Amino acid sequence: MTTFPERVFSGVQPTGNLHLGNYLGAIKKFVALQENHNCIYCVVDMHAITTWQDPKELSGNIREVTAAFIASGIDPEKHVVFNQSQVSEHAELAWIFNCVARMGWLSRMTQFKDKAGKDREKASVGLFAYPALMAADILAYRATHVPVGDDQKQHLELTRDIAQKFNNDFRSSIDEYGYGDQFFPLTEPLIEGPATRVMSLRDGSKKMSKSDPSDLSRIVLTDDRDTIAKKFRKAKTDPMPLPDNLDDLRARPEAENLVNIYAALSETSKEAVLAEFAGFEFSKFKPALVEMAVEKLAPISGEMQRLQADPGHIDQILKDGSDKAREIASITLGAVKEIVGFIK
Ligand code: TRP
Repeated sequence: MTTFPERVFSGVQPTGNLHLGNYLGAIKKFVALQENHNCIYCVVDMHAITTWQDPKELSGNIREVTAAFIASGIDPEKHVVFNQSQVSEHAELAWIFNCVARMGWLSRMTQFKDKAGKDREKASVGLFAYPALMAADILAYRATHVPVGDDQKQHLELTRDIAQKFNNDFRSSIDEYGYGDQFFPLTEPLIEGPATRVMSLRDGSKKMSKSDPSDLSRIVLTDDRDTIAKKFRKAKTDPMPLPDNLDDLRARPEAENLVNIYAALSETSKEAVLAEFAGFEFSKFKPALVEMAVEKLAPISGEMQRLQADPGHIDQILKDGSDKAREIASITLGAVKEIVGFIK
């Protein structure tokens, strides 16, 4: 069996309104992984345009995600931070994967069904082919591990299916050119710590979302301390004090969400938070939550603001990152072209 050096890859779409769910569910986990892994973090602008993005806003949104990465503690010197469209190998490999993946596989993707909605005829072809581009992102670096949320697990399985079919279909040329018995690794999901599903602050049964019409439903990463405090103070609750066990908490979505957010920000478990706050009214718990949120999030929004004030600096980080990424991806793509029989 071929063994692949351990490498982590993940991506975030620059679609605006980066919020607490993106931070706790993804970016904060990316930061932690830097300790023990080689990491590549990508602003996936080509995925973003599978649904309409206003060109006047897209570049600002790309810089916003980049600023959030850096402000949260991702180190672009030790690891790789870049935007997808600057490394054309992603698009080239995606085309080859479009020819490996089967219509039936992609037709089963639940995210496509959700995002395309009732009128599938009007969805972009890119939205349908989205998972093949995601596989290209990951496999251009032959990444072994991808931190993903629940909603992306199916896409990661598809990445494995594509890798496996490529390895099988091209077995003889992979062997002929001396690439061992497997050219692509079967990438594993990385689940770091407890799953952090952050819900709307106005409705504990809905995920926190960039597109919710109510600004009060989400904490965005550029909110200043007063705004963070105001939104948590106005967050929906119920009239009961906090329970002392998870079963009772589970029946109260708004309470569970706030406890979960407190736990994730303070890096403890929901159990530990209940052990501290059982019996507290929200009038007492909320001030503690506000204090914790402001302490953890206000420095990030401050640093994001500072970084975004100098777009030239952010663009330079992305350019340097893209150069590093391309060095790896171009080697993979060169080999892939050889394997499929193209002339270089
Ligand atoms: N599809 C992912 C999302 O919407 C973003 C993404 C694109 C990604 N390429 C990736 C995540 C590669 C992990 C690895 O969240």
